[in-house]
Amino acid sequence: MVIEVVRIGQRLVRDDRVTTHVALVSRGFGAERIFMTEINPEIKDTIKKINNTWGGNFEIEFIEKWKTIVNKKKNEGFKIVHLSMYGESIDDVQENLRTEANIMIVVGAEKVPREIYELADYNVAVGNQPHSEISALAIVLDRMQKGKQFKKEFSNAKRKIIPTKNGKNVEVKETRD
Ligand SMILES: C[S@@+](CC[C@H](N)C(=O)[O-])C[C@H]1O[C@@H](n2cnc3c(N)ncnc32)[C@H](O)[C@@H]1O
Repeated sequence: MVIEVVRIGQRLVRDDRVTTHVALVSRGFGAERIFMTEINPEIKDTIKKINNTWGGNFEIEFIEKWKTIVNKKKNEGFKIVHLSMYGESIDDVQENLRTEANIMIVVGAEKVPREIYELADYNVAVGNQPHSEISALAIVLDRMQKGKQFKKEFSNAKRKIIPTKNGKNVEVKETRD
């Protein structure tokens, strides 16, 4: 299954860390790419550094209009999963989501345009209370993949963590650059 994420909108300045965290959760929880409007170009450098140290090829693409990418992915056969507290419960749709070949997850920042509810194949709620796109995204990615995302190998990593009960155990490979 290929999973991609698109973030619609951003509240200027105050959302910088949230946007970075949406990208980090996407990468850490098995998505291949995130699309977002270019508000803060530094986020590309942040992710580049993370890829360089911790491996993998997670990509950020800046886009002009969310609708263009959502329609493009829909035409390519991706199912569009829009995260919204008004949607169907994740408990009820998670099994269907697991059977889909490719998925584009749409998360909002501020109030999202009405159209996305119509364009989405699934409008999915993680509970019916307002919370955060970071948490909603993490939970949906985990429910979809049932934890398998944490077994994914990140290629060409300079650092690899060996899980340990106490302290830190990190395998260091200084081969890339
Ligand atoms: C901070 S919320 C803003 C929501 C905004 N008030 C609205 O009505 O569209 C930002 C994003 O977090 C996600 N989100 C927040 N709570 C959620 C929930 N309970 N279930 C699923 N997604 C949620 C949605 O993608 C939402 O667009």
